[in-house]
Amino acid sequence: MTASRIDGKAFAARLRERVGAMAAEFAKQAGRKAGLAVVLVGDDPASQVYVGSKGKATLAANMESFEHRLPDDTGEAQLLALVEQLNNDDAVDGILVQLPLPDHLDEQAIISAISPDKDVDGFHVINAGRLSVGQNGFVPCTPLGCMMLLTDRLGDLSGLEAVVIGRSNIVGKPMAQLLVDANATVTIAHSRTKDLPAVVKRADIVVAAVGRPEMVKAEWLKPGATVIDVGINRLPPAEGEAKGRLVGDVAFGEASEVASAITPVPGGVGPMTIAVLLRNTLVAAYRNEGLTVPDSL
Ligand code: GUN
Repeated sequence: MTASRIDGKAFAARLRERVGAMAAEFAKQAGRKAGLAVVLVGDDPASQVYVGSKGKATLAANMESFEHRLPDDTGEAQLLALVEQLNNDDAVDGILVQLPLPDHLDEQAIISAISPDKDVDGFHVINAGRLSVGQNGFVPCTPLGCMMLLTDRLGDLSGLEAVVIGRSNIVGKPMAQLLVDANATVTIAHSRTKDLPAVVKRADIVVAAVGRPEMVKAEWLKPGATVIDVGINRLPPAEGEAKGRLVGDVAFGEASEVASAITPVPGGVGPMTIAVLLRNTLVAAYRNEGLTVPDSL
């Protein structure tokens, strides 16, 4: 059996298209465009690329993009002052501070300063709490994107066994919460889990978010499982390569022989993150204007 590929890239393109059309409707209704502010501190090359892509995607989805690029030696007070300014700016519906921040800045302190109602990353403790008790807030983009791919593929997840590998605040924990809310039976596995292969073997749904290249092997999987690979790892360059290949946390080739469906890397979960960020920003805009958020968002 060869698994079908879950085409996150195509799904994300359709989501961006839909959000773009709805953002144009929002602008008519509200008399202004929805706006996303992205703050980047320092000159980390990967972050520069992400921030550039987010800005372009925001404009392409009929929203305003406000980019703030600050030098590496920006002080905490200065960054907090910018966040406060964005909190109070009615043209800004969503605020994203690109992580990681330089070491001298306290990420938790900065995230806590963002208004929870503009926290489209869903990283604020208030939004983590809202997710945990089932209130409307903002859910982190990557796990929400994984959930969209899963429900698109499987429909109702009730009673399915799900194993999430990884317990980060950004992916593993919110992913587990979303799966529980969808009535799956959920296990969170992590670096101290005993006999990880045996735990994974139970799973109808595997979500791998650990950052270890090709760690999950075909023989760990239950035949017919659905596999969501959140990992993006660059291998050391092979001979004759300038750059190493990008691989996920799952050994894709062999896993494809056992799973029924699997996300590739690249082109699986990755493209979903920005698409969901745009979706969350439009949701924020509707809420900030006191308008009803359309169900189809
Ligand atoms: N760095 C890498 N991914 C993300 C993300 O989704 N949000 C933020 N704020 N920083 C990131």
